Amino acid sequence: MMKKKIPVELHVNGEPYELYVPPNRTLLEVLREDLELTGTKEGCGEGVCGSCTVLWEGLPIRSCLTLVTEVQDAEILTIEGLAAEDGSLDKLQQSFIDHGAVQCGFCTPGMLMSARAFLNKHQNPTEQDIREAISGNICRCTGYAKIVEAIKEVAEEQG
Ligand code: FES
Ligand code: FES
Repeated sequence: MMKKKIPVELHVNGEPYELYVPPNRTLLEVLREDLELTGTKEGCGEGVCGSCTVLWEGLPIRSCLTLVTEVQDAEILTIEGLAAEDGSLDKLQQSFIDHGAVQCGFCTPGMLMSARAFLNKHQNPTEQDIREAISGNICRCTGYAKIVEAIKEVAEEQG
C-alpha cells in the first residue's frame, strides 16, 4: 500500500521548496533524492559518521536522523550553499584545498558544515576546541591533522 504523502515547505540554501513526501522521509533523502543536492553524503545512515551533516538555523544536525517534517520552515544550509553566490569558495573550503585536507572527499561536506557552524560561533579556538567540534565527523583517510590545520588557519584569520 502506498504511504500517504503530506505537504512540506522547506528553505534550503535560501531557496523555498514545496514538496509532497511520506511523513517518515528523512531530510537526507529529500536533499539527495528529491532536490538532487547530492553534495550531502550518506555514510552510516544511522547517526554515527557525520557525513550527512547540514546546518539547521546555523546548528549542525545529522540529516539522516532528521525527519523532513521536523525542519519545515527552518533555514537549512547544505554544502551547495556554502560558497558565495558569485561562486567564490568559503574560506574553509579554500583552506581545506590549500592544506591537502581532502583525500577521498566523502567526509568533507559534513566536516566543512560542522567546522563552519563552529567558527561562526567561536573566536580564537584552541586546537582541542577544533578537534572537539569535528569529533562527530569521521574521516577514514586523513588522520585529521591536515583538517585541523585547515580549520585553525581560518580561525586565526578571523581572529
Ligand atoms: S549518514 Fe548520517 S551520521 Fe552517518
Ligand atoms: S577524506 Fe576520505 S573519509 Fe575523509
